[in-house]
Amino acid sequence: MGHGAGKVILFGEHAVVYGKPALAASLSRGARAEATRDDAGALRVAPWNTRVTLGGPESGDETGEKVDDKATMLRLAYRTLIDSYPDPARGFGVRAEMEIPGGAGLGGSAALSVAVIRALDEALGIRRTDTEVAELSLCWERVFHGNPSGVDSAMAASAGVALYVKGQPLQPVRLARPLYLCIAHSGEYGSTKTTVSSVARQQAHDPARVNKVLDGIEAVVVNARRAIEDGELQKLGQLMELNQKLLVSLLLSTPRLEELCRAAVAAGALGAMLTGGGGGGCMIALSDDEHGAERVRQALSVFDAAAFVVEVRG
Ligand code: MEV
Repeated sequence: MGHGAGKVILFGEHAVVYGKPALAASLSRGARAEATRDDAGALRVAPWNTRVTLGGPESGDETGEKVDDKATMLRLAYRTLIDSYPDPARGFGVRAEMEIPGGAGLGGSAALSVAVIRALDEALGIRRTDTEVAELSLCWERVFHGNPSGVDSAMAASAGVALYVKGQPLQPVRLARPLYLCIAHSGEYGSTKTTVSSVARQQAHDPARVNKVLDGIEAVVVNARRAIEDGELQKLGQLMELNQKLLVSLLLSTPRLEELCRAAVAAGALGAMLTGGGGGGCMIALSDDEHGAERVRQALSVFDAAAFVVEVRG
């Protein structure tokens, strides 16, 4: 059985694509996968109700399985991945199960790719380090995200909290105390590919403005790392608010995400911001302790937002 972790970016999304650091935490939820002998070489993903094969177009007409853009991307990503395996890999099929939603900013596609790689590696007797798994996952992530920084893949193959800089090994971060986060889904689908290209377009059009924002995010990340290591939660909450403002200035938030962030702070959160690609997807809110995070979760349930509480440890 292969496992890939979901992740939350705590600080630094988007700027990380431009070589700035980002702070992220792996989630225990993610994706699981198992590879078994199957001449069709099919990849099935539940609960997406999607089955793709290496050979033909997305199929499943007879079984009523859904064929959509996600299926097309999945087929391309899977084929690209299998192309980097030795031939015997084509004699296996993979059944995967997602434990987190896609398009939510929680690194679902990277978690899936890592779970699939680990399942295939186990079946074929291939051994790889976490870093090698994350590197291989990038060919899949390029199909889903266009120009990934690699943070999702690195976190999917790892655990704990880390500082990530594109092309460099993860730097584990020591936490003075656990962080209690409420993660809430806006109910809007966010496409990381779209939001990453939007920032690239803004940067091409007005590099001075965008670079200033990216520098601002970098300063937030550097200070946030210190605050995490020193257990300064109030400061961390303020930095979240600042990070959110910087992301808003890059047009990455939505009225719905803003509403959820405001509601979280009104319910006592120390700070709140969107997480991941934005344009929808999830937001995170930081609380002093588990009770505080639970209060925020309850407050957000009034907005019909699917929300859960996580305890982040180093
Ligand atoms: C997506 O989880 C994070 C982004 O920074 C994109 C990336 O790093 O590849 C928005």
